[in-house]
Amino acid sequence: MNICILGAGAIGSLWACYLHNAGHTVSLWTRGSEASISLSLDERPPLVFPCNQESQLSDTDVLLVTVKAWQVESAIHPIISLLKPHCSIIFSHNGMGAVETVLPQISDHPVYFATTTHGALRKDKNQIQHTGQGQTIIGSLNNLADDQLDKLVEAFNLALPPVHSDSNIGQALWNKLAINCCINPLTTLKDCRNGELAAKDTLETIETLCIEIAMVINAEGYTCDKNKLFTRTKQVIEATSANFSSMHQDIHHNRPTEIDYITGYLLQRAQAHNIDTPMNKKLFDQIKQKEALNDH
Ligand SMILES: NC(=O)c1ccc[n+]([C@@H]2O[C@H](COP(=O)([O-])OP(=O)(O)OC[C@H]3O[C@@H](n4cnc5c(N)ncnc54)[C@H](OP(=O)(O)O)[C@@H]3O)[C@@H](O)[C@H]2O)c1
Repeated sequence: MNICILGAGAIGSLWACYLHNAGHTVSLWTRGSEASISLSLDERPPLVFPCNQESQLSDTDVLLVTVKAWQVESAIHPIISLLKPHCSIIFSHNGMGAVETVLPQISDHPVYFATTTHGALRKDKNQIQHTGQGQTIIGSLNNLADDQLDKLVEAFNLALPPVHSDSNIGQALWNKLAINCCINPLTTLKDCRNGELAAKDTLETIETLCIEIAMVINAEGYTCDKNKLFTRTKQVIEATSANFSSMHQDIHHNRPTEIDYITGYLLQRAQAHNIDTPMNKKLFDQIKQKEALNDH
């Protein structure tokens, strides 16, 4: 397939290298004007990718959008008219709510969401490190997407397994968002690794967050048991104890966070259902204050 990656950061570059190695023709689209970019994955020899070429973009079968949640709209808007009619569009980022704002503009395309637990680090513009093996789940976001889901999942699974399809991607996204709502803000505010959230007083806060989150997810028509969510969150804290969360890293590196699409999205949906979520609101406000102190 001809695959274009929009957002050649850590995750986008990781997919670019693995999809290239699986035999696909991969190009990149950045906000720069370079005609090619060389990428080295781990210690392997560099691969050179064509970049920002309109002729390639207009022949793209699959556009993989790996910008951050708050960058989705501004990244995809300028290139929608350059895509061929049946080009599949796959979004992959943390958080929820960003794709909803652009879906009406791309309703002629098959649209998918891919959620991944792989870890990737961009050491510099040309060096990518695959820091953690994970898995990827892909699901359809519109009816046009259903026909080609299996074909896409097969192609991505051959490149960087395991990749599974999920006919209820909304549930998978809420499951991930629920845990992100607990781990991301708390590690950022406590300036700690994930494992340090296992302290008793922090677990009490997490239990309260889980009660609020479960109410919102259930009101949205998805399944969430507050006790199971609390248990799952503790398991993730233990399994990723040495990691710094993405929000912690964003604040540490003076970058905007994805809080508006994580806790912010939860608060929006809570408000729509008249559900009180004071603990989540408190963490949201504290992160926004911290973010405002960054000079980006
Ligand atoms: N990294 C991970 O391990 C990981 C794991 C799971 C999920 N995720 C999620 O995946 C998403 C991407 O994360 P990441 O770590 O890959 O972030 P990243 O390294 O910052 O990559 C984002 C890329 O998008 C580019 N971009 C932004 N606006 C653009 C535009 N208008 N046109 C073209 N390119 C644009 C950025 O370009 P510049 O270089 O010019 O800024 C950057 O290269 C996030 O939602 C993150 O939470 C990441």
